[in-house]
Formats: sequence, structure tokens, C-alpha cells
Amino acid sequence: MSASREEFGSRLGFILAAAGSAVGIGNLVGFPVGAAKNGGGAFLLMYALFVFLICLPVMLAEMSVGRHAGKDPLGAYTKLSGGAWQWKIAGWLSIITPFMIAVFYLVITVWIFGYLVESTLGNLDELANPETFGTFIQGQSVFYYMVAVLAIVYLILQGGVKDGIEKAAKLLMPSLFVMLLVLVGFVLTRDNALAGVEYYLVPDFSKIDASVVNGALSQAFFSLSLGMGIMITYGSYINKRADIPGSAKLVALTDTLVAFVAGLMILPAIFSFNPNIDPSELSESSISMIFSFLPKIFLALQASLGYFGASAVASVFFLLVFFAAITSIVSIFEVPVAALMDEKGVSRKSALGLLGLLLVVFAVCCALSFGMVSFFTEFTSYAGATKSFFDIVYDVFYDTILPLNGLLICLFVIYRWKKHNFNAELDQGAPKYKGSLFERYVDISVGTFIPVILAVIFVNTVAVKYFGVSLFAS
Ligand code: PHE
Repeated sequence: MSASREEFGSRLGFILAAAGSAVGIGNLVGFPVGAAKNGGGAFLLMYALFVFLICLPVMLAEMSVGRHAGKDPLGAYTKLSGGAWQWKIAGWLSIITPFMIAVFYLVITVWIFGYLVESTLGNLDELANPETFGTFIQGQSVFYYMVAVLAIVYLILQGGVKDGIEKAAKLLMPSLFVMLLVLVGFVLTRDNALAGVEYYLVPDFSKIDASVVNGALSQAFFSLSLGMGIMITYGSYINKRADIPGSAKLVALTDTLVAFVAGLMILPAIFSFNPNIDPSELSESSISMIFSFLPKIFLALQASLGYFGASAVASVFFLLVFFAAITSIVSIFEVPVAALMDEKGVSRKSALGLLGLLLVVFAVCCALSFGMVSFFTEFTSYAGATKSFFDIVYDVFYDTILPLNGLLICLFVIYRWKKHNFNAELDQGAPKYKGSLFERYVDISVGTFIPVILAVIFVNTVAVKYFGVSLFAS
């Protein structure tokens, strides 16, 4: 074990790195479209309540466990439980889950990078062709782009916590904010943009039903990068003087704000660049929005800006999404890397090399599962649908295990590590937290209704995904 653990250099660095993890494709595309289709302002309100009342306490639990143990998730569960085997399983889950999510997130990041390169090279018309995405993901170029993305992730992570992760976040996050604001400013000054804002924000409470509530909560949970061991790992890199509750609040706020502002870019863009659109037909899948739909929308801009202008806007958009994806993938891959370093005492370089290799093997299997190799494309089937290797990684780790991991950390903190230890850890560096109303709220919620809610989501997801029945069927 290393004598002194790596640390973030500043509070701002930590907040930007954690926010960098949280801000991702979910914020930029998933949230805006989900909100627009599911009640607008009503969805937004509900989402914000979920972020602060349910997800923020879970984030506090993760960060405080990480900082107290000063270890990766497996090491943290093991240390704080005194080595109990049940909690070791939770520890293993918190490093296998991020590794597998890294696998599929890498594949998506590679596509985004490919689209960024293509639009910058002037091939926006090609990208806007409905057949392009299907051929692109089956083509060889995916593998070249994968090498490039891996090289970037490797370069950042081999720099370590302060000179790698923190530095990258300090560069990428402000650039991301600037690009987002520039795009929002541009889009809002276009004709018809306000129709998009209206469609996005006008509250419609009648759209809110049980499955929308479930969807909003899962989205909030995933958007804050919870259940993936990330906040445990990042928590282990902050010092005892840092204010965890204050930092976590800022991370949650930034994440929600970016999601909200992204809506002011996406929806008005759709309405103003392409006024004949029927918004109710928008796909809720971020993937089909980014790769099949938005390029068409950008191309429509050529009528007013010319081809070059339209390509420039598209390129800035893809760069924005790429930056968001890179800071997320770095955070998630750091979890198994930290675990290998902590548990086996190997150097950062060897951990990166070994896990990088494994990541490539799995990611290639995913990349091959879009028609290139039928073994991976038709890997298995459940709930009446054929599932590819990619689908399985997504369904199992992303959709199913995340809420389970959230449930486990809550139970762990309150019933194994114990409330007073949890509170003492949060109080350190945050004198104002002690005795506050928020402390009382966190205390009660983490031990009671939050785990119950996460358990319901977990059971419902298992029922829907694998058995095709919903607990909330109307
Ligand atoms: N929070 C990210 C988002 O909103 C998702 C994510 C983070 C995925 C980290 C993987 C790793 O898109």
C-alpha cells in the first residue's frame, strides 16, 4: 500500500472533477428530451426534488465512506465492515459495475469522437443521412477512433489524481460551460426558438405517472454518477479539511443546472432549425437523438448559415458532448484502477495497462455486437427480445445494478458503519453541517425511505427488464 494517498489539490479541483463525472450525455441530451416529453416544468421540478432529497444524501454517503476509509470501494467496504464477506460482495459490485459501464460508455464516447471528427472534416451531410449511423457503427473506423479515445483517457489517468484527473477537469469543464452557453445563446436568437422553450418548460402535471416518476429518479441517480463507486473513490482523494456536504451540494447543483441549460439548447434548436417537426415523435433514447436526429437538425441550418456555418455549429456541439463524455469515462475507469492499485499494490501505470487491455477486449466485443459478428449481435434473449452483448452490459450494469449499489451503500452506512461515524465524518471540515436541519434530514432519510425507494426501483427494473412485467403497469 502506498504511504501517502494521492489527493486533489484544491476544493475547486475536486468539485470540478466530481461535476465532470456527473455531467455527461445524460445531462446534455437525455434530460432535455425526457423533460420535454414528460411534463416539462412539472418534470423539472420533480427531478430537482429527487436530486436534492434523494440523490444528494446518497452522494454524501459515498463520499464520506471514501474519505473515511481512504480507499477504493472494495477496500472501503472491507475496512469499514471489519472484513465481513457480505460487504465484500458489495465492494466487488462497486468495482465491477463501473468497469462494465466503462466498457459501454467507451463505445458511445468513441462514436461521439467519430462524429466530431467527421463533422469537423466537413462531412455533416454524410452524418445527416439516416443510414450513416448504422454503417458507421459497423465499420472499421470505429476501431481507429477507439485507439484515439483510449490514448486520451490513458494520458489523463496516467497523470494521476492531481496532474491528470484534476487538471483535465479544470480545463475541460470551463470549456464545456463556455461552449454550452455559446450554443444556447446562438440557438435562442434563432426564429421560432421560443416555441422550443415553451415545449420544454410549460408544466403539464397530467403527464406525470408512476413510470415517469421512476424514470426521473433513475435519471437523477445516474446523472449524479451514483452507485458506480466513483464518489467513493473521489472521496478517498479529498483531505479531512474539505467540506463534503458543501462540495456535494455544489456538484448536484452544477449537474442539475447543466441539464436544465442543455434543454435551452436542444429543444429550441429542434424547433427553430426544423420548424415542421412533430416533437412528440422525438426519441427518448439519447443515442438515437445524438447520432441520427441531431445531425439532420444541424444540417438544416445550412439554409441560413451555409454549409460551413452548419458544420461549425455541429462540431462545437460534438466537442461539447465529447468533453462531457471524457470527464465521465475518466472518473469511471479510475474506480477499478484505484482498486487494483490499492488492493494489489501495483503501480498506476501497470494498473492502467492491465485494466486498459481488459477494457479493450470487452469494448471490442461490444463494438462487434452491432451486426459485425452474429455471436455478439444475437448474444442471448430475454423478456421476448434478442439481446446483443452491448444490450446485456447496458441492461445488467447500467439499468439494474446501479440502484442496487445505491441501496447497499445506504444500508451499509447506517446499519454497519453506523450513523455516528457517518455524521462525524461529514462534520469534519464542515462545522456548519453539525446540528443543521440538513444533517437531521440526511440522517433519517439514508436509513429509512431512500433505501426503500431504491429497492422498489431495483425490483421494478428486474421485473420489467427480464420478465416483461411492470410493478407500475397502468
Ligand atoms: N453522469 C453521467 C451522465 O449524466 C453518466 C456517467 C458518469 C456515466 C460516469 C458513466 C460514468 O451522463
